[in-house]
Amino acid sequence: MTSHRPSAVIVMAAGQGTRMKSATPKVLHEIGGRSLVGHAVVTARALAPEHLVVVVGTGREQVEAHLAAVDPDVRTAVQEQQLGTGDAVRAGLTAVPEGFDGTVVVTSGDVPLLTAETLLELTAEHDKQGNAVTVLTARVPDPTGYGRILPGPDGTVAGIVEHKDATAEQRQIDEINAGIYAFDAATLRDGLSRLTTDNAQGELYLTDVLAIARGDGKRVGAFVTEDAMQTEGVNDRVQLATLRAELNRRTLDALMRSGVTVVDPSTTWVDQTVQLEPDVTLLPNTQLHGATTVAAGATIGPDTTLTDVQVGEGATIIRTHGSGAQIGARASVGPFAYLRPGTSLGVKGKIGTFVETKNAAIAAGAKVPHLTYAGDATIGEGANIGAGTIFANYDGVNKHHTTVGRSSFVGSNSVLVAPVDIADGAYIAAGSAIDQPVAPGEIAIARGRQRNIKGWVARRRAGTTTAKAAEEALADASGDTGEKA
Ligand code: UD1
Ligand code: MG
Repeated sequence: MTSHRPSAVIVMAAGQGTRMKSATPKVLHEIGGRSLVGHAVVTARALAPEHLVVVVGTGREQVEAHLAAVDPDVRTAVQEQQLGTGDAVRAGLTAVPEGFDGTVVVTSGDVPLLTAETLLELTAEHDKQGNAVTVLTARVPDPTGYGRILPGPDGTVAGIVEHKDATAEQRQIDEINAGIYAFDAATLRDGLSRLTTDNAQGELYLTDVLAIARGDGKRVGAFVTEDAMQTEGVNDRVQLATLRAELNRRTLDALMRSGVTVVDPSTTWVDQTVQLEPDVTLLPNTQLHGATTVAAGATIGPDTTLTDVQVGEGATIIRTHGSGAQIGARASVGPFAYLRPGTSLGVKGKIGTFVETKNAAIAAGAKVPHLTYAGDATIGEGANIGAGTIFANYDGVNKHHTTVGRSSFVGSNSVLVAPVDIADGAYIAAGSAIDQPVAPGEIAIARGRQRNIKGWVARRRAGTTTAKAAEEALADASGDTGEKA
């Protein structure tokens, strides 16, 4: 726990996000495997605040439901009307006990690259300087649209002027307000109670609290970050894409520095929630999402998308689409495999080409190499499932289970009609339709018996090239027989 632990973090997320042109509230749009507000909450959590409050308004029900799912301990406060950032924080304060003191950190729900480290630096600086307010700032080449930092004496801050309210001279200032602050709680409460809407946008500006505090003789400071990208907000889908790419680039950089090989960073996408061990190799066009984990020495890709998949040490997954699956150490999957939820593959197992699996437990060393659907199945250790085998799990109403025992062998192009049980050490003849149990050591043959009709081609296909070939072959055969006789 940090010694600069704030009493509360308030995340402003009530705004409309008009420029997204979306039925989905802006803060629920995703980058890097988390919603924008999800990033804000994860970052805020790193400060271990006593209270974590998200101010909701636009799309309130949706945002609240989402927050309850990602962090049930988050409190929400409703801002009925978007009257400005000052009003948003005032709403946020209604969700924390009246009269509490300490530091209140305020952030935005649309600044996804902000890191916990930067917030920790901000609160550390706030405490070190003994400030009443500390604002996170950055120097940017184009400050248009942002609030500008008005300098005070001795490196302090006199106030913030919004772009729309700024004079031509003030607009020359390139140090911008990131919209992220540490406030002394009493200073914040007092400042908010004194805000007016006497400005270009007719809003209650949170930024005015700084000049108010300063006017009361309190110390107001800035913490300048060198990493301006961390302060960038998402207002439209162009910025969403820009920050998504930047976040991914940062994620991949960190992974490569930790020992992961990324062959083509420009086509590789890894969510923040994914964990990769050293000596994992990611080949081009790989996307890893959700709770995916990959153990040391495994190779993923090319052209592979995995969501919530756990991959064991040294496994290989080629051109595969998978979700909710567990792949054992040194197992191999693909190319062209489709792993659906509930798939597990044991150590050194194989799920091969054009194979779809669902709710299928495939034990160590078992092989499902080609053209198979394995749904609702248990496949024993070392079993071999022949090419084109279908586990027919659905009777049109219910799903049923199939078991194939240890070291059993299912011949190609068989249909296993569930529910059915094939014991350990059994064989299924190729082309069988199996709907009865098979005991250990048995072979089950369930197909029409082969019947050959002599002379059929000559009688029914006379004059064809087939008939001619048959005639020649038969003549040769009788000739051979003649010579030998
Ligand atoms: C704000 C700052 C500006 C700063 C910029 C950084 C003010 C007055 N200005 O401007 O100095 O440079 O952020 O990005 O604070 N929100 C609410 N309720 C409201 C209004 C806003 O919850 O009534 C939320 C928004 O959802 C957003 C955040 O507050 O997450 C910032 O609001 P926004 O309207 O984007 O402020 P800016 O005009 O960008
Ligand atoms: Mg903004």
